[in-house]
Amino acid sequence: MSKKVTVLGGGVLGTQIGLMCAYYGYDTTFWLRSEGSIGRTQPKIERYSGMMLEDLKKAAALVGNPMGRFLYPKGMIKDWDNATAESLAELCAAGEANLKNCVHIELDKAKAVKDAYIVIESMSEDPQAKIEVYKQFRDLLDPETILVTNSSTLLPSMFAEYTGRPEKYLSLHFANTIWKNNTAEVMGHEGTGQEAYDEVVRFAESIGMVPLQLHKEQPGYILNSMLVPFLSSAQALWANGVAEPETIDLTWRLATGAPKGPFEILDIVGLETAYNINQMKPAAQQEGTLENRMGKLLKEKIDRGETGINAGKGFYDYTKK
Ligand SMILES: NC(=O)c1ccc[n+]([C@@H]2O[C@H](COP(=O)([O-])OP(=O)(O)OC[C@H]3O[C@@H](n4cnc5c(N)ncnc54)[C@H](O)[C@@H]3O)[C@@H](O)[C@H]2O)c1
Repeated sequence: MSKKVTVLGGGVLGTQIGLMCAYYGYDTTFWLRSEGSIGRTQPKIERYSGMMLEDLKKAAALVGNPMGRFLYPKGMIKDWDNATAESLAELCAAGEANLKNCVHIELDKAKAVKDAYIVIESMSEDPQAKIEVYKQFRDLLDPETILVTNSSTLLPSMFAEYTGRPEKYLSLHFANTIWKNNTAEVMGHEGTGQEAYDEVVRFAESIGMVPLQLHKEQPGYILNSMLVPFLSSAQALWANGVAEPETIDLTWRLATGAPKGPFEILDIVGLETAYNINQMKPAAQQEGTLENRMGKLLKEKIDRGETGINAGKGFYDYTKK
């Protein structure tokens, strides 16, 4: 019998994570809190499964193309170098069957986590709600079950005491569109046991992720610890009137060989997120500071509906061919 994985929360990331587990044959259960949640999660399951399989089918056309290695859905194909049209067709058939047969939804808490090898908490980024749920599940989990959180900004040490299993609790942080952007940052707190940590690394690999191991707690993990200051520096150059976003991006691309500049990345992240991060800085609230000006400039764009690539316009216009 395949191992069971339970995902708490059926939002954007929870759904994607659960589907990756199912794709690789794990018996996957989404625990949702109400019938209403089922109505919201079911369409996401269908939409993301469709996107995953579509990307896998498209990958067949990339076999033999030198650009293929940059474009294939990395989380879904473990051995791109030896992939053929036939092997991808087989993968697609197996994946489609798994996505259909290995996904379950459960409202009952005890049933949802019974016999689970690993439970992945991917609920809203609300510390109080997470604590409540950890308390409700702590006595329902099997003693051996490993519990991980996908939280982007909260540290596992904030929650360890509520889980009833601090040595088997840690962070496993995925990126959006995980079947393509297959990073999994693994981060324990001081009380996380090495055995559980190593098992989570193996689990991440087993679902097509590249485990990125952190040796200690770090707010923002590895990626956001670099990305947030980088994007802030670019916005500061813009807000200070030093150069236009296009020039700043061009500088970065030409000088480093990177495919995208900071403002192209900001359009993908979304300007609302960039604005929220900026507003958390105390200086953003003080009139006359650079951070305050950055906030105002971002807000003007947001108010015009220029919130990034999903809106068709951000720092760049994506409606033009
Ligand atoms: N969206 C991203 O790009 C992204 C990337 C990496 C990590 N994350 C992290 O993943 C987690 C989930 O983010 P998301 O974007 O999927 O959020 P989301 O808003 O899409 O989904 C949140 C889910 O949590 C459920 N939920 C909220 N409160 C609950 C409660 N009290 N009891 C039961 N269920 C509850 C909601 O019904 C929903 O299904 C967060 O911790 C976030 O930091 C998000």
